[in-house]
Amino acid sequence: MTPTNQATLESIIGRRTAHDYTGERVDDELVENALLAANHAPNHKHTFPWRFTILGPAARQEVAELGVTTKAAGNELTEQQQERTRNRWLSPSHMIVITQVRCDDPDRNREDYAACACAIQNMMVYLASVGVHSKWSTGGLSKRPEIHGIAGIDKNIEQVIGFVLVGIASGLPNVSRPELESVVRRTP
Ligand SMILES: Cc1cc2nc3c(=O)[nH]c(=O)nc-3n(C[C@H](O)[C@H](O)[C@H](O)COP(=O)(O)O)c2cc1C
Repeated sequence: MTPTNQATLESIIGRRTAHDYTGERVDDELVENALLAANHAPNHKHTFPWRFTILGPAARQEVAELGVTTKAAGNELTEQQQERTRNRWLSPSHMIVITQVRCDDPDRNREDYAACACAIQNMMVYLASVGVHSKWSTGGLSKRPEIHGIAGIDKNIEQVIGFVLVGIASGLPNVSRPELESVVRRTP
């Protein structure tokens, strides 16, 4: 008999990036569990290169305002556009800044980034397994140098590789995936 774990497979397949959130609060305990899952990701040479900074309410407000400036990119946004942008960053229940510990060796840097990606996926799959949605965002806001200061991160030691937004989705996109046979080869 082939052993199967349908629940794990369903969490992996069911995880979907959420772009819009209801504002509903997710239990801190679930986020802590997600970070525990992240910290168990594989990493070459035991570098454990990931760091997670959970933003508090004051930092969230600062990020949201920076989001408005970033979106405006020197232009004037209407009040409604500003509010929509603020809401985009404030409506997820939690916002976590993901950083990778810097290193000078390009090979190790590449492997460390891969390990951080594994950590993020662990986090998001765990959240999916408990009915919580998430998004890894590497957009312009996450690249703003001000993020280091807001999150209290030493930019000489760690680099921001994105945000993970956590919350309850108000809608989920339908993402069609390639057929498995189009991405898998088998050799004799
Ligand atoms: C490294 C990485 C960076 C991403 N950055 C963004 C982003 O900045 N904005 C965004 O809307 N989605 C971002 N995503 C999420 C993708 O849009 C999403 O994974 C893709 O649409 C597939 O959907 P799924 O996650 O529901 O399978 C990112 C995903 C990855 C892996």
